[in-house]
Amino acid sequence: MKALTRTSITGAVLACACLTSLGLRPAQASGQDKGAAPAANKYIGADKCKSCHGAAESGDQYGHWKGMKHAKAFETLASEDSKKLAAAKGIADAQKSDDCVKCHVTAFGVPEAQIKKGFDRAQGVQCESCHGPGEQHMKARFAAAAKGNASQDYVQVPADEIIAAPKMAVCVECHNERSPSYKEFCYHEFNAEIRHLNPKKPRTTIDIGACTCPKCASGCPESCKTLAEIK
Ligand code: HEC
Ligand code: HEC
Ligand code: HEC
Ligand code: HEC
Repeated sequence: MKALTRTSITGAVLACACLTSLGLRPAQASGQDKGAAPAANKYIGADKCKSCHGAAESGDQYGHWKGMKHAKAFETLASEDSKKLAAAKGIADAQKSDDCVKCHVTAFGVPEAQIKKGFDRAQGVQCESCHGPGEQHMKARFAAAAKGNASQDYVQVPADEIIAAPKMAVCVECHNERSPSYKEFCYHEFNAEIRHLNPKKPRTTIDIGACTCPKCASGCPESCKTLAEIK
């Protein structure tokens, strides 16, 4: 499969009849609190991220995500295990029950006005569950490409364009005791399993070694790796 490059981003922009609608207005803050995200910044879905975040040389975040259980989180709700968990709660179809769907999809409870046409909830826990809505980020990057600013080098995007490093707080919105199959959540360990870093991003050893898990203060559990060990 041919990996997409910045050059092909430019190509995509030029080929796109909607070029004028891309706009050049500054991106709005995506906001950690998804409920409070401005209506102008919509959830667009993982397929839209694929064209720019699917290249091996910048870490193929899309490919990583496809291999995560998160991408199957909605499908899981139709499994035999799920039927048992649901039956115990008197739920006939977990895929149709808010009590289950709320943690197994992206943008649950978000008003329709903030969801882009084509967004597919069946794709489970997608990028924007952790990174916040991505519409303004996509527009800003297409606009940069259209202006000829696309580069093969790493670009630092403005901090309010997209959540670059989601914190543990976002994980525990779903990874908590309200999950009928709850497993003790250790950020280091769980983050290690889903990590999809961009090797082009400049980093200090402090960035990589930093221990941000609140459990660190009291001593992490035996199973909890430090970020340095993970790397
Ligand atoms: C038009 C291309 C494009 C699209 C579409 C796009 N991105 Fe990006 N994204 C970029 C570029 C360029 C950067 C800057 C980092 C780099 O140079 O690799 C970036 C940076 C990021 C960062 C910050 C990483 C860092 O290094 O600080 C995150 C997180 C991110 N994108 C997530 C997403 C998500 C989630 C989607 C889909 C909802 C998405 N992107 C869609 C081009 C795009
Ligand atoms: C929107 C809800 C949601 C958020 C937010 C979320 N997860 Fe998950 N996560 C799930 C669900 C649901 C599953 C189970 C999917 C399945 O098995 O089909 C899961 C599974 C996982 C697994 C696989 C666990 C296993 O049993 O092997 C890991 C690892 C993980 N999540 C890490 C994280 C980390 C780290 C974060 C935060 C950066 C996070 N998750 C944020 C819902 C979420
Ligand atoms: C379950 C939560 C979760 C999902 C789903 C998720 N990410 Fe991330 N992503 C994170 C976390 C957490 C980090 C920061 C990792 C770290 O610093 O250890 C991150 C980092 C990144 C980065 C920056 C990498 C770097 O080098 O710092 C990019 C780009 C990115 N994600 C894009 C995506 C895209 C695109 C998707 C979907 C195809 C996606 N992510 C899905 C949680 C998630
Ligand atoms: C509070 C969020 C939340 C709710 C509500 C929730 N889940 Fe989950 N579910 C998760 C997370 C997170 C995981 C990953 C494993 C873990 O840590 O619990 C998961 C994993 C699963 C799995 C995979 C099995 C496993 O052991 O990993 C099944 C099946 C499942 N959930 C079914 C359901 C059903 C059925 C309901 C509704 C009765 C439901 N879930 C409600 C968050 C939730």
